[in-house]
Amino acid sequence: MGYNPDKPMDGRLSDLGPPHYEQFFPQVIRENKGKWLWHEILQAGVLMHKSETGAEVYTVRVGSARLISIEHVRELCDIADAHCDGHLRFTTRNNVEFMVDAKEKVQPLLDDLASRGNKFPVGGTGAGVTNIVHTQGWAHCHTPATDASGVVKAVMDELFEYFTSQVLPAQCRIALACCLNMCGAVHASDIAILGVHRKPPMIDHTRISGVCELPLAISSCPLGAVKPAKAVVNGKEIKTVKVNVERCMFCGNCYTMCPAMPLADPDGDGIAILVGGKVSNSRQAPKFSKLVIPFLPNNTPRWPEVVNAIKGILEAYAAGANKYERLGEWAERIGWEKFFEVCEIPFTDKSIDDYRLAYDSWRTTTQFKYTSHTASYTK
Ligand code: HEM
Ligand code: HEM
Ligand code: SF4
Ligand code: SF4
Repeated sequence: MGYNPDKPMDGRLSDLGPPHYEQFFPQVIRENKGKWLWHEILQAGVLMHKSETGAEVYTVRVGSARLISIEHVRELCDIADAHCDGHLRFTTRNNVEFMVDAKEKVQPLLDDLASRGNKFPVGGTGAGVTNIVHTQGWAHCHTPATDASGVVKAVMDELFEYFTSQVLPAQCRIALACCLNMCGAVHASDIAILGVHRKPPMIDHTRISGVCELPLAISSCPLGAVKPAKAVVNGKEIKTVKVNVERCMFCGNCYTMCPAMPLADPDGDGIAILVGGKVSNSRQAPKFSKLVIPFLPNNTPRWPEVVNAIKGILEAYAAGANKYERLGEWAERIGWEKFFEVCEIPFTDKSIDDYRLAYDSWRTTTQFKYTSHTASYTK
């Protein structure tokens, strides 16, 4: 029975939840659930898990653009039908994994993937750079300060060799969010790409009282920069807001609440780079990523400044860090002043915290190392 717009509640199904995941298990996963003994990485992108029953499952991980067409999904299904009895899975970083239950089935799968051009690059395991967790960008959201898919493609092209190899000291997680709502993982990734604005919102007094709950817009500001105000529109006094631009730090939160306060700007908007976050508890506790480059332009379509900055940081880390050391652990061990020096990143006042609990992030010790930066300050 088709949907009847005159009786929208007729035959309506709701609150069914997702289908139970066990329905979609490959046979070998179903039979060995909870019985896994050990695993190894056979080569970049290929894992083997051994069960106490003696069974083995081989997993081939391939990159994915996350934003994909139904044709692409069907091609994934064709591959799964041909090699994996119709089973596949997506990872938490939006890679795709094909599983087979015997070693001799791995090579035909790899050959098939390789025969399809660059659509299904094998990799993303071990101490390398895996997929970039990212957001909507200009494809879908209304609050971005940069694009997601475009930047991610440009960065992954440049770092592709690190996706298909495992030559870094530890895994390096890269994430992107196109505004500081930070949908996803930028606040806790080794390298984070973040869309930022640099101009305060414009206020459309003609629309604002019709489209906004003014108290919401006022309370949305983390700095109390939005205040109630009056304006005259077509000879009539209306309620509106004013923004103290000296207090505004361009977060865009007021625009999220109030459509009459847009702030996107082609020259003002761009990308900040944060580094040193992690989410695992291995060796050291999880860390937030920290701002090291306050602004790079939105130089579409390949974002060369952003790509170069990330490559520079990654290569300095690869050269300097010890085995198992994540980027944030390395930066803290050598000292952030050394991090800026070896990465050749100019230190700016924008990296000095000035928000509420800022005090604890300043240096309350005489312990520091002289660097090229210190030299330039004391000249
Ligand atoms: C201390 C707090 C948090 C830490 C350290 C953290 C860390 C992370 C990391 C590292 C990832 C990427 C995981 C991966 O590598 O696959 C991630 C994913 C994610 N985080 Fe957080 N997060 C925190 C809080 C939050 C909060 C408060 C939210 C939402 C309100 C959130 C929403 C998400 C979502 C939706 C993802 C994507 C999940 C996926 O792709 O499967 N996180 N987070
Ligand atoms: C107008 C604004 C927004 C639009 C149009 C939007 C739309 C979407 C869409 C279409 C997806 C993809 C769903 C899929 O892949 O099936 C998505 C994913 C997601 N959205 Fe939003 N969203 C918006 C704002 C937000 C906000 C404000 C947050 C969090 C504070 C958020 C968090 C997420 C997360 C965590 C994901 C999953 C990303 C992943 O796992 O790859 N979104 N959103
Ligand atoms: S990070 Fe910001 S701009 Fe990007 S999808 Fe999330 S809310 Fe939209
Ligand atoms: S952009 Fe952010 S800081 Fe500026 S007025 Fe709006 S909410 Fe406040």
